Amino acid sequence: MTFIPKNITANGINVSYLDEGTSTGAPLIFIHGFPFNKEMWSTQLTALSDNHRCIAYDVRGHGGSEAGAAQFGIPQFADDLFSFMDALKIDKAIVVGLSMGGYIALHAIEKNDARIAGLILCDTQCAADTQEGRDKRKKTIAFIQKNGLEVYTEESLKNLFAPASLQSKKEEVSFIKNTILDSKPENICLTLQALADRKEKCTMLKDIHVPVLILVGKEDKITTPEAAEKMHREIKGAEMGIIDGAGHLSNLENKDGFNERVKSFLAKNFKS
Ligand code: MLT
Repeated sequence: MTFIPKNITANGINVSYLDEGTSTGAPLIFIHGFPFNKEMWSTQLTALSDNHRCIAYDVRGHGGSEAGAAQFGIPQFADDLFSFMDALKIDKAIVVGLSMGGYIALHAIEKNDARIAGLILCDTQCAADTQEGRDKRKKTIAFIQKNGLEVYTEESLKNLFAPASLQSKKEEVSFIKNTILDSKPENICLTLQALADRKEKCTMLKDIHVPVLILVGKEDKITTPEAAEKMHREIKGAEMGIIDGAGHLSNLENKDGFNERVKSFLAKNFKS
């Protein structure tokens, strides 16, 4: 289904977002991974908006949201989330974050847990980059600055999707390919630096006291099932689901499996 994007000013930038469904309960706010945009959540908006207000927005410098003048960083993106919620007059939300979206969600709950009603952490992790990871991001930035996005995109696809999905999920693969190719190289480089600079959020997991669902693609090579299991061990009462037939983009590679886990978690923990 195609949804019509809306725009709102938050933290001094124009933010593009989708806002579907109504409910009296806390809305769901979806935060995409890197370097994607709100459209990656279309299937979830279709599946969940009968019972929940579902909002998916573009992180600063992604999709239709402006980059603005502020330095990119995961703490900045978490501040942006709260400003976006302020602009929409949302006091509390259930935050669904995939990969970078999960990093933003963890920074946000650490900063102000009164505004987070629940978390759905998908294909993400609490650890910071290792030195090797930071060096790799630095090389990638230099590579993109010299060569543009084409080779980077092809290499990314191999890591993002499970091998079988690369063959069988042509539509999803081409959607992600076009999303990366349509991105501004300078914003991709700024975000790569923001990812490299992020701080670990493993030591704060024991302080999370809201319902949490952790989902991970069985074949996720970027944020592995082991990394998900570590968060599961640390967050009291968290539920965890391994999504079969999926790599790093579990919500796209196994939509039904992903949506069913989310629906059952929401039904158990939240009124719609
Ligand atoms: C993402 O999907 O957001 C990225 O893979 C996160 C990362 O590179 O750490």
